[in-house]
Amino acid sequence: MQYSTTAVNPSSRSVDCLIVGIYEGGTLSSGANDVDQASRGKIKRLLKSGDLTPKLGQCMVLTDVTGVRAPRVVVVGLGKQNAFKAKQFQAAILAALRAISGSKCKSVLNCLTLEAITGSSEYYLARYTAQAAATALYRFTQLKSDKKPAASALRRIEVALPSRGGAGKAMRGFEHGDAIGFGMSLARELGNLPSNICTPSYLARSAQKLARDSKLLQTRVLNEAEMKRLGMHSLLSVSAGSQEPGKLIVMQYKGGGRQKPVVLVGKGVTFDTGGISLKPGAAMDEMKFDMCGAAGVLGTMATVARLQLPINLNVIVPTVENMPSGTATNPGDIVTSMSGQTIEILNTDAEGRLILCDALTYSRRFKPDTVIDVATLTGACVIALGHHRTGVMSKSDALAASLVAAGELAGDYAWRLPLDDEYAEQLQSNFADMANVGGREGGAITAGCFLAKFTDGLNWAHLDVAGTAWSSGKQKGASGRPVPLLTEFLLARSGALP
Ligand code: BES
Ligand code: MN
Ligand code: ZN
Repeated sequence: MQYSTTAVNPSSRSVDCLIVGIYEGGTLSSGANDVDQASRGKIKRLLKSGDLTPKLGQCMVLTDVTGVRAPRVVVVGLGKQNAFKAKQFQAAILAALRAISGSKCKSVLNCLTLEAITGSSEYYLARYTAQAAATALYRFTQLKSDKKPAASALRRIEVALPSRGGAGKAMRGFEHGDAIGFGMSLARELGNLPSNICTPSYLARSAQKLARDSKLLQTRVLNEAEMKRLGMHSLLSVSAGSQEPGKLIVMQYKGGGRQKPVVLVGKGVTFDTGGISLKPGAAMDEMKFDMCGAAGVLGTMATVARLQLPINLNVIVPTVENMPSGTATNPGDIVTSMSGQTIEILNTDAEGRLILCDALTYSRRFKPDTVIDVATLTGACVIALGHHRTGVMSKSDALAASLVAAGELAGDYAWRLPLDDEYAEQLQSNFADMANVGGREGGAITAGCFLAKFTDGLNWAHLDVAGTAWSSGKQKGASGRPVPLLTEFLLARSGALP
């Protein structure tokens, strides 16, 4: 994709398509006003006739508007003018780019950047535009044999600026947004692949492939024998029932000299049947998405490597398939984790925490500044927060606050849940140091409390992306979240934000 900025009047710009907006109550956006004047009132007439709706994200494509050089104008609803903020901007530009993603348009000019949007600079508006383009243009085509959905024709994206002033910042925003889009697309592709292709070994090969493209990046893959020697019996108890061998993927990106690294740990359960505590059949296919935590941290690594950020970043992916079989772990079995703590596995379906705890213990060898795990960990988090916000849990107020704030800026929203000691009491076991489940009540939090037992003394946070990493139903597919949130957090740390 090519990106640029322009300060000329939208109506006189020669591109294949303009994107302009209208607000509730019939107010025109700056771009729509320019188109209206050039066309002697076309937009206002359409508004009057009721053919244009100002509902946020509703699009109408106009063709051959007189007085406008672009052959197409997408008019997108922007909602209430006083409520038009970064979030609404992102929804509107995504809807508009979706509307033209199947057309023959090769170039588009986004005029929504001419609006006054409190709290958003040229940098963010350009970045959101590039990220929306990647989101709108992504297609899963790998496994379609004949009727492959055609790739979009879009090659060039411009944003309109009120003056030449912010062009430098906008170009930086394009660069970052493009890289975030690249990381999200990788995360979506890995997430969408079925479990007969995306096995633990496949994830390991994907990580090794990523490292081939960057001099600053190295990947190592530990096999089951090596993990056994390290004492990762909790992780190995999950892969025990599967024919697919478990792996521990360890990536090191060194762009930050002698700084202590940030470590991202991603849950890589390539399929979660529940194990002997077998899940019910309905929608079980969606448990191919149970490696979306892994996909999210690999996607973030891809973004960081592409931007060559001046930071040190490690990614650890414990990856397994959770299957029932004669060699599977039984409910009630007790294992010793790498930390030395023993775990009574009361429910083999609470397997994510069993692989994460050993990966978190492993992360200590990097003397990390910060450790963040990302996991499709609990159905309870989906009940608590729905599909809109990722759950954030941390003992550190500062770390939790900066992750939530990063989510707000990135448009990848998160919300903090508590980790009080009272919740941890639900994990009490009569036979081992802890049980791996704490009952139905506060299930997202007791899962967080379980992980907290392995992160004592670390600056650690846990992201539960069970509700946000993929969509169900007709729109079924991985979302690429939380790549934007994590990248924002890392950009802020690296001083790369303008
Ligand atoms: N991968 C699931 C969590 C999940 C379920 C995410 C549905 C998204 C949608 C996880 O391994 C799991 O099975 N968790 C159990 C924990 C329970 C046994 C304590 C759950 O949420 O039911
Ligand atoms: Mn499970
Ligand atoms: Zn799971």
